[in-house]
Amino acid sequence: MSLATQKSSPYTVIADIYDLVMTDVDYETWSDYIDEIILQHKPKSVELLELACGTGTIAFYLEELDCYNITATDASADMIRIAKRKAARVNSEIKFITMNFLEIKLDKKFDVVYMVFDSLNYLHSNEEILKLHSEVKKVLKPGGIFIYDFTTPRNSRKAIKYLNEERRHLKGKFRYERKSSYDAVNQIHTNKFHIEVMDPESDEPTQVFEEEHQQKIYTFDHIKSLIKKTDFTILQAYDGFELKPAHKKSLRITMVLQ
Ligand SMILES: C[S@@+](CC[C@H](N)C(=O)[O-])C[C@H]1O[C@@H](n2cnc3c(N)ncnc32)[C@H](O)[C@@H]1O
Repeated sequence: MSLATQKSSPYTVIADIYDLVMTDVDYETWSDYIDEIILQHKPKSVELLELACGTGTIAFYLEELDCYNITATDASADMIRIAKRKAARVNSEIKFITMNFLEIKLDKKFDVVYMVFDSLNYLHSNEEILKLHSEVKKVLKPGGIFIYDFTTPRNSRKAIKYLNEERRHLKGKFRYERKSSYDAVNQIHTNKFHIEVMDPESDEPTQVFEEEHQQKIYTFDHIKSLIKKTDFTILQAYDGFELKPAHKKSLRITMVLQ
């Protein structure tokens, strides 16, 4: 008997296999990169706020450096549930909160607000991107910095080749397949995840889900033109994971704003 496929909202069912999907991502190097940027542009920072933290991996690596107090937030209650489970395992003091970054409600102010791994690309309109900047401004201390990255159309064209039809199987737990496509005209990158929850004994699927994530892909020039409309100035725009300036061919760009 074949199982009916249930549609799940973005970052709900996938939360339980997110760390499996991200096995190949070098989060430790990524967190070192964020730390280097902080040291470069706002040394002596202590209070950090992470937006769209997912299951918290970057925050855990930054906490290991023993110099930051970290609040980490994400709109998905399921991603935060996994982050809190990981935090309990390592006695982490990170404060994890479910929060939409378009409605930041926090009493505290921060030296640094950061957001990694294309999370900006989940915003599909200029208005939302401007709103994000004005929300972040509210919780930054004077002179505080806002760090975020986004991916470019060139990255989407390249990524399709290796992300499409990715499959993984965690015996007795989950099996998933990812299909990726890129609509270059509308600059929409879609990842469709087919997720099967497996019976622990028989390793046969018991539930089947389809989860679709859509990202809007922006050029460097587009993001720069939007930042001009905010109260932020660009301290630097970096290329990839380098401390070198971004350029028109950059695949991922990390903005550092003040
Ligand atoms: C590609 S994941 C990145 C997660 C994490 N930063 C990482 O590096 O693994 C994108 C994350 O953005 C979150 N997200 C999307 N829209 C959001 C919003 N409006 N407010 C807060 N989080 C959001 C999703 O729930 C998801 O966890």
